[in-house]
Amino acid sequence: MPTGNISPTTARPARGIVLLAGVLAATLLFTAGCRRDMYDQPKYDAYDPSTFFKDGSSSRQQIDGTVARGDLEADSLYYTGKIDGKDADVFPFAVDRELLELGRERYLIYCSPCHGRAGDGRGMVVRRGFSPPPTFHSEYLYKKPVGHLYNVITHGYGAMYSYAARVPVRHRWAITAYIRAMQYSRQASPDDLTPDEQKFLASPPPAGQTPSNSDEHRASSAEAAK
Ligand code: HEC
Repeated sequence: MPTGNISPTTARPARGIVLLAGVLAATLLFTAGCRRDMYDQPKYDAYDPSTFFKDGSSSRQQIDGTVARGDLEADSLYYTGKIDGKDADVFPFAVDRELLELGRERYLIYCSPCHGRAGDGRGMVVRRGFSPPPTFHSEYLYKKPVGHLYNVITHGYGAMYSYAARVPVRHRWAITAYIRAMQYSRQASPDDLTPDEQKFLASPPPAGQTPSNSDEHRASSAEAAK
């Protein structure tokens, strides 16, 4: 307790504060037993029962003939990957390099942990014990239409879960295109190239240049030159 020259006028409000604090502490102790945690909020979850509406549900039904904003999905091929109920074998838009780059990026993020960077089904998760997916480089998957690949991403397949919540529609098509490109990379024939490209391929490499001119190769030849 402070002692000494405290005058009665300053001491009185101090007593008031102590009293107030006491009342506050008592109130807190009393109310602590009936506190509400944030995760338990006084609100209705979807389709909780309620006496407020006549039909006994807290949620309202969608009004006939209306569509929620952003839910129109008028382009059926784009959203379902199907034409007349069957997996489509065409893309809903033109595939260009930009789409393939996006597909590669998304594939490496979402699919390669299991399917492997080359699509051979030997991703890191699989090497650690997850059930192995099939390789993309099989007759079976070469022949499957692109709509099938799109739908595997959208709905999942057997042990593989759906990626609909994580991969938006356009990105699913981009990944599909990239898988097709990976598959194609192992089936291409020289006949697919233009005559100019074929001539370039057939010509010997310029003198003094080996076929591999990767950074690694250059680094090792620099090492050897020392
Ligand atoms: C967690 C591991 C895992 C990830 C990540 C994963 N998959 Fe799969 N995937 C599987 C497994 C396992 C199967 C085999 C499922 C089965 O046959 O039961 C499979 C099967 C497939 C198939 C073959 C379907 C068929 O017709 O046989 C395709 C195509 C495919 N996945 C695409 C993808 C794409 C594209 C992604 C990325 C968006 C992806 N997967 C991400 C595990 C995974």
